[in-house]
Amino acid sequence: MMIQADTPVGQIATEYPMATKVFARHGMDFCCGGGKAIEKVCESKGLDVAAVLDEIREAVADPDSDMERWDEAPLDALIAHILTTYHEPLKEELPRLEFMAQKVNTVHGSKMPEVLSELLSTVVALRAELEGHMGKEEQILFPLILQGRGAMAGGPVAVMEQEHESAGDALQRLRELTGDFEVPAEACNTWRALWHGLAALEAETHQHIHLENNILFPRALAG
Ligand SMILES: [Fe+2]
Ligand SMILES: [Fe+2]
Repeated sequence: MMIQADTPVGQIATEYPMATKVFARHGMDFCCGGGKAIEKVCESKGLDVAAVLDEIREAVADPDSDMERWDEAPLDALIAHILTTYHEPLKEELPRLEFMAQKVNTVHGSKMPEVLSELLSTVVALRAELEGHMGKEEQILFPLILQGRGAMAGGPVAVMEQEHESAGDALQRLRELTGDFEVPAEACNTWRALWHGLAALEAETHQHIHLENNILFPRALAG
């Protein structure tokens, strides 16, 4: 495995997709901050880089590690994968999460008033942001790339990257508000489902942004 302490995390995630499981386990950002060296990311999280590299070696050696190398796939296949694996499910999942956040805030708001109301407003804003964002990718950027005109898409790509940062910040805030998605002992079923749903949203969105920021956009811009 050709990973050094100064290899950028986005490159590791691209070349060794299974490494993303290790990054997710430690809450390491590999999508928006993909250009940072793994030792720097470990340092900022108080993690031992040698131990993390061992975990990555183990994950990569796992015989069940069958995650695709999207840097080697045709761009149209990568875009189709992003649409079916991330965009389509999100369109169902975001309204479901908003509905649950609304319900938990209405029924249990008095137990954690500040947390649950900010959680609701963050979910509502993130839903609006992601829905608008996916619309722009689907109607403007992805068609440009599919027409072979990705090299001219510097402007739209910069906007998408900014929106990814903002979505990443909202997810980070949700992680803080939910106490790292640890379900409180008194939580009812909806509350529980909301916490699990938000944890899954974070994991999926990190993969989604990684595929766009670190693989699709640089390849498209390179023409
Ligand atoms: Fe997307
Ligand atoms: Fe995106």
